Amino acid sequence: MKFFVDTADVKEIRELNELGLVDGVTTNPSLILKSGGNIADVTKEICSIVEGPVSAEVVATEYAQMMKEAEVLAAIADNVCIKVPLTLDGLRACKTIRTEMERMVNVTLCFSANQALLAAKAGASFISPFVGRLDDTGLDGMELISEIRQIYDNFDFDTEILVASVRTVNHIKEAALIGADVITAPPAALRALVKHPLTDKGLEAFLADWAKTGQKIG
Ligand code: G3P
Repeated sequence: MKFFVDTADVKEIRELNELGLVDGVTTNPSLILKSGGNIADVTKEICSIVEGPVSAEVVATEYAQMMKEAEVLAAIADNVCIKVPLTLDGLRACKTIRTEMERMVNVTLCFSANQALLAAKAGASFISPFVGRLDDTGLDGMELISEIRQIYDNFDFDTEILVASVRTVNHIKEAALIGADVITAPPAALRALVKHPLTDKGLEAFLADWAKTGQKIG
């Protein structure tokens, strides 16, 4: 399973990348706002750090303008993955970007299995179902991931399931158990994966015993 980091914070991306935790990056207009930077500059810098796909989102809602924005974003770097919303215009743009521009496309704001089916038929490289936002409404976001997994497997669709709106380490574990291809998580959720109280307690005990030996390694 691939780990993408869901942020436009270049410092965080650099640090997580050095830890080997970054197979790609996802951004969106809200994350660009939070970064305080210009989308072209921020995306370019991220692409210089990370080799994998870096999703940058169009903000137009109409096909022709989406395509113009896609050209601009694609020119930033070869690993820019164009992110489009799950609308009819977005799906049309997805198909064109995949076939004519031969670029990766991430179809975002997916909240149903039928929407995911449409994205696969449009040739999406990634589908982004938002599990946290579904949980917020009282539904079960991970149930959607299971449904999409089954549908994509039924028909051998190549579209990768990119679990988004991840809020907790349990989302990541569930996504792995279901067999999602990718998760994109905020930096804090990725860092939290390493935590276990018994690891801390065990390390503390080992270090205390080691100090009593009076030895040094090297
Ligand atoms: O990847 C999508 C993500 O940025 C949305 O997350 O927490 O705003 O629902 P959230």
